[in-house]
Amino acid sequence: MLETQHDILWTFLTLLFTVYSFFVFVNVVGHCREHKEVNTPLWGGIFGALFIVNILMTRHMFDLVQHDQMGFISWQVLAIFVILLMWGLFFKSQKIEDQSPPFVRGFFFWVTVSTLLAGYTNWLPQQRSDPPPKGGAAISKDLTVEEYAEMGRIIVFGAKQVAGQKAIGKGQCPLCHTFEPGNNIGRCPNLFGVEERSHTRIKEDRYLNQPIKVGEEDPATHVVKGKPMDIDPAYRRQGGPEMTGEDYIRESVMCPSCYVVKGYGKAGDKVSPMPVIVKPPISLSPVEVNAVIAWLQSKDTPGDFSSVTVPLPSAEDTATAEADAGEGEKKIFVTGTESIEDMVNTLGCPVCHTIPGVPGAAGQLGPLLHEKVNAPKRIKDPRYKGKARNTKEYVRESILNPSAYIVFNDEAGELFPDGLMPQDFKNKLSIDALDKLVDFISQTE
Ligand code: HEC
Ligand code: HEC
Repeated sequence: MLETQHDILWTFLTLLFTVYSFFVFVNVVGHCREHKEVNTPLWGGIFGALFIVNILMTRHMFDLVQHDQMGFISWQVLAIFVILLMWGLFFKSQKIEDQSPPFVRGFFFWVTVSTLLAGYTNWLPQQRSDPPPKGGAAISKDLTVEEYAEMGRIIVFGAKQVAGQKAIGKGQCPLCHTFEPGNNIGRCPNLFGVEERSHTRIKEDRYLNQPIKVGEEDPATHVVKGKPMDIDPAYRRQGGPEMTGEDYIRESVMCPSCYVVKGYGKAGDKVSPMPVIVKPPISLSPVEVNAVIAWLQSKDTPGDFSSVTVPLPSAEDTATAEADAGEGEKKIFVTGTESIEDMVNTLGCPVCHTIPGVPGAAGQLGPLLHEKVNAPKRIKDPRYKGKARNTKEYVRESILNPSAYIVFNDEAGELFPDGLMPQDFKNKLSIDALDKLVDFISQTE
């Protein structure tokens, strides 16, 4: 679980606290109405104020991330205790404690609440809609390193993260990469510790000579390996002709095949399956690439930004980037009115698949999608335990439930990694879009 996530439980509780304080407020005012001798403005004022305090606290909770929410909830629990105490005091002072006391009412309230909570958490993973994202990716003139790194984080994960859901932003990195120690999903390196590695990699013999030598040009991207002075000045950098850790990370994402992490490449680790992130479908701008680098350099040391070396964007960069601001989060959903090409690009299939008939879809991490040929073979495989009986059913099943059957990778001599293909396309496609996509992919050969 990432500490930048929003916590469902705390968010839910905080809403309930507000509802509860409103309930008490209404109850007290009701009493005041029935008993003419009670000082209504005084008691109404006190409980009204407590209700408002709870509303403000709830609002604040929505601005916090999980870790801080956990700390803040104790203040709200305290506020609820004050309410209960005041409520008891109200009963005592009005000599009406012969009615069921507040603590008993409180008990029944919280039993109902717990039942609701159980129901809510069951219903939640499919249905939750997030509060509108803050314009977190916007660039301001007086940007700090911390804000720049935060912008990078939003490009990677999107503006809002919800516990239990895989968050994927415009950069699409979490489709393939993991970032926490020990968490791996298969054919892509875990990027924990990449800042540290970036300084040692460039001194390795393997970096100097494989798969191309320093000074040679990568044919796919025309980047000259190990020559940071040659990059477009739009990618602002610090330092002279020597490679730095920052340059290594930038080269990794702009020219993945300049250096291929051992065991993660194709054709004997000569070709990287990672997409060039400055080209479609990802297409990050120079300012965005540097923001992602700033985040990668600082993510392993929360609160400490001393390892960040990328310079902040200049005023002119800011002007060009302003147009893109707020795009950090891209809503991924297709309705079926789009062209096939737009549909697969929005969904990100070309990041992993080569799809015949779709220009630029040259992904290398998943099987080549010629399903007219593949699907009948898969269904006949004794390993196949799915429900499909024909090609269309097989393609539909592969999209909605990729783990139903795991394809064997003949080239690598092992199964493709299970869990690499996103499991949640069912939430990103309308029924029309799914039909259209299945029709198209079933015909590919
Ligand atoms: C389609 C899957 C995929 C996506 C999407 C992807 N990567 Fe990668 N990445 C890989 C693979 C596979 C490698 C290992 C091969 C190589 O070295 O190029 C890699 C390598 C890297 C490395 C070098 C790691 C090291 O230890 O030296 C960095 C840095 C990196 N990726 C950053 C990113 C960032 C940042 C993004 C998002 C903007 C991203 N990647 C998106 C698959 C992906
Ligand atoms: C992050 C990488 C990734 C993305 C994005 C991705 N896939 Fe996959 N896909 C895979 C991998 C890996 C496999 C093989 C493992 C398996 O069978 O689950 C696979 C398998 C498949 C298969 C079965 C192929 C066969 O020959 O049996 C189909 C069909 C498929 N994907 C369609 C799609 C479509 C359509 C999209 C976009 C909506 C998509 N995939 C997005 C990685 C990905």
